[in-house]
Amino acid sequence: MNILLIGSGGREHALAWKLAQSPLCDTLFAAPGNPGIAEHATLVALDVRDHAATVAFCTTNAIELIVIGPEAPLVDGLGDSLRSAGFAVFGPDKAAAQLEGSKAFTKALCDQAQIPTARYAHVTSLDAGLGALARFGVPVVVKADGLAAGKGVTVATTHDEAEAALRDLFTDAGGEAVIEEFLEGEEASLFVLTDGKAILPFGSAQDHKRVGEGDTGPNTGGMGAYSPARVLTPELERRALDEIVRPTVAAMAAAGTPFSGVLYAGLMLTADGPKLIEYNARFGDPECQVLMARLESDLVPILLAVAGGTLADHGAAQWRDAVALTVVLAANGYPGTPEAGGAIDGISDAEATGAIVFQAGTRATDSGIVAAGGRVLAVTGLGDTIGTARDAAYRGVDAIAFPTGFCRRDIGWREIARAGD
Ligand code: AMP
Ligand code: GLY
Repeated sequence: MNILLIGSGGREHALAWKLAQSPLCDTLFAAPGNPGIAEHATLVALDVRDHAATVAFCTTNAIELIVIGPEAPLVDGLGDSLRSAGFAVFGPDKAAAQLEGSKAFTKALCDQAQIPTARYAHVTSLDAGLGALARFGVPVVVKADGLAAGKGVTVATTHDEAEAALRDLFTDAGGEAVIEEFLEGEEASLFVLTDGKAILPFGSAQDHKRVGEGDTGPNTGGMGAYSPARVLTPELERRALDEIVRPTVAAMAAAGTPFSGVLYAGLMLTADGPKLIEYNARFGDPECQVLMARLESDLVPILLAVAGGTLADHGAAQWRDAVALTVVLAANGYPGTPEAGGAIDGISDAEATGAIVFQAGTRATDSGIVAAGGRVLAVTGLGDTIGTARDAAYRGVDAIAFPTGFCRRDIGWREIARAGD
């Protein structure tokens, strides 16, 4: 069958790498893709904001499965448009993508379904925000509502700092914010596929969001990740599925907006058990890279079962009994303005070490691959332990010459310390 993959990052390179290995896949198209994805797919210059053009492309090319990687087209309703034209789509409708798109929506759903999460106040004016703040101790968390648009989350250690964050959010008319109790614990991500009714647990991971070693400095999209997250023990995973994921899936279905796709639950493992920090309506980036490196099962029938509403008939996914760890190489300047155009050499040398190199922000030029984004490569290693997976990943990293880029050298540190590797 022909498959269309939408997106252009490291997550999509990992999906393309895995989809292309399927015996069921004839032609894989990617829109717009990147030079790494081009090794597995035919790139198409399709503007996916133009839903009619995307539907026309799928009709002309007899596409039987569309996989939407990033959140923006999901929140924009591309899934709805393609599904109403009769196509099988992996990725939720616009209404269901609100689980990622609106923090207030998700918090209200947690209230209604009694899902464990941080106590919160949703406010639509500065005055209301300042009033609500008085009901919270410190630290306290202030979040912009809607897809964060650069203004994300402030963990404030004083009320003054929280007030400043609120004033910042309400400089534009019509702002919205969520104020939350600070949850203490370790974070872990749980991935669950659902067709709106059945669920299929799909692995766990932990990532490193801060740009600097020791988890310091500004937040990024993620500087590295590993899977599985052993801190999410089978018992904690069962609780997260029963107390958080299943009630979410049921509440979405009961509201007439069933969620079909991957639910990426950001969890805080607190002393009282797992609590939901946030949902994403897509795979994580770079968490997807480590999940795909470990996935043994053919991805295509799984995604078809999700898209077709037959997930209950699908067995559990099979995983390699190995740890995967990925290290992001970013362009200097990231997460601010990244330096564009820096030369990258040695990708094939890195692959010769056994590492898997997924490309994120790259561009092909006559003289080779150059940087064209903040996060540029995700170099992934597999091993029997977190320590050997880390060594495999850094062997790959060290084979790459990217003078205008950098990476963290301590990916996996918390887990490595715990494992004693
Ligand atoms: P979010 O955009 O909601 O995922 O938040 C980004 C990051 O802020 C999370 O990954 C956490 O590290 C932190 N965070 C968000 N909400 C809370 C909370 N209620 N308590 C503690 N940390 C939080
Ligand atoms: N790595 C975090 C994310 O994909 O949102």
